[in-house]
Amino acid sequence: MKTRHFFLLIVFALTGLLASCEYDFVVPEKPPVIDPEVPISFATQIEPIFSNGNNCTACHKTGATPPDLSTGMAYNAIVPSLINTTDTAASIIYWYPHPNSTTHNWKKYTLADATLILEWIKQGAKNN
Ligand code: HEC
Repeated sequence: MKTRHFFLLIVFALTGLLASCEYDFVVPEKPPVIDPEVPISFATQIEPIFSNGNNCTACHKTGATPPDLSTGMAYNAIVPSLINTTDTAASIIYWYPHPNSTTHNWKKYTLADATLILEWIKQGAKNN
């Protein structure tokens, strides 16, 4: 093998190696844009955050760790005790399991869940 060919081979091999090291940048989760004019339903949008896949109800169910977030029980467990109507972002149900909080390392909301919950509180934390 001529030296030139060998050199080319090395170049190809290195190019392949570098290409295989391409890194897929992890895009940080962006909060979804929520239209405050569209009412958020507790029953169809908020309660499922707690119960789908036993997300929260694995621990927060009837007879277990309060608040009881199981379907049908969640509203009375949250309102009014875990809601702050004057400073909505200070509502325990919002910030305590927030992905950026240092509290509640058991399980966090996704940013999308947290954003939806805050908007629901801003809309008056209705049992709708
Ligand atoms: C693995 C079990 C577990 C899971 C799953 C879990 N939690 Fe908790 N959570 C706890 C425990 C234990 C406490 C009490 C100790 C503490 O405050 O960290 C608690 C406390 C809380 C509190 C504070 C209540 C208060 O009165 O101060 C809130 C709010 C809460 N959890 C919400 C949630 C939400 C929402 C989810 C689902 C995203 C969730 N938890 C999932 C175990 C869990």
